[in-house]
Amino acid sequence: MGYPTQLQVNDRTGPVVGIVPAAGRGVRLGEELPKAFVELDGRTMLDRSVESMFDSGVVDRVVVVVPAELAATRPSDIVSEQFATRVTVVAGGAERADSVRAGLAGAGDARFVLVHDAARALTPPDLFGRVVSALRDGSDAVIPVLPVTDTVKSVDADGVVTGTPVRATLRAVQTPQGFDLGLLARANRDAGDATDDAGLVERLGVRVHTVVGDPMAFKITTPLDLVLARAVLAGNRTGNRTTKEL
Ligand code: CTP
Ligand code: MG
Repeated sequence: MGYPTQLQVNDRTGPVVGIVPAAGRGVRLGEELPKAFVELDGRTMLDRSVESMFDSGVVDRVVVVVPAELAATRPSDIVSEQFATRVTVVAGGAERADSVRAGLAGAGDARFVLVHDAARALTPPDLFGRVVSALRDGSDAVIPVLPVTDTVKSVDADGVVTGTPVRATLRAVQTPQGFDLGLLARANRDAGDATDDAGLVERLGVRVHTVVGDPMAFKITTPLDLVLARAVLAGNRTGNRTTKEL
């Protein structure tokens, strides 16, 4: 008596909170609005991303991280009324990791967090389910990945090739990335800079597990990506292909 049982120690039930970094400027996209507020077929990337998270059925609440000047935005201005009561809005920071930190501060009673770029606006609901299943099954850090199709090289500061990693060992990384809340908070605080959240967790020596990603979870970064996203939504030939073919 008095000692927690194994079940309690490793309790993997509890709330899943989504953190949606949407505070970037979208410099590479080159639109006037901050990228997350750019519309795809009449709805913002942010709205689409948040709706897909809730449609998955595995996300309890979402913290949306917006540019500081939009911090007074009401949830109902960002997402449909149906979801607004489960959304909070916080101000982001200069770097993506700063925005994630702001989101973590609003994650409250979460057992797990899913960090998901607003810019991956066409991510299918299933992908959130795969990541959360892996967390519930025992992983503390889970990322969706796909094989890379291009050969990848490393180069030095002069652009001279320094190596060619074996392509079969490489994976392109997407979001949502899922974590034990305490683990990501520690990694974000202690581990410095990385281009994704899992990179910070790796530096702590924690195992990061992978699940199969989805081509539709591509990040809308450049004008070409925007063309692709709009074409998919328009249901043209590309959009009618299955995600497997894309
Ligand atoms: N992001 C953020 N806070 C930042 C920088 C980025 O919340 N300080 C978010 C973006 O809004 C986006 C996601 O992180 O949803 C992925 O970043 P990226 O695709 O690089 O978006 P931007 O930083 O907006 O684009 P760019 O780098 O071209 O300016
Ligand atoms: Mg950026």
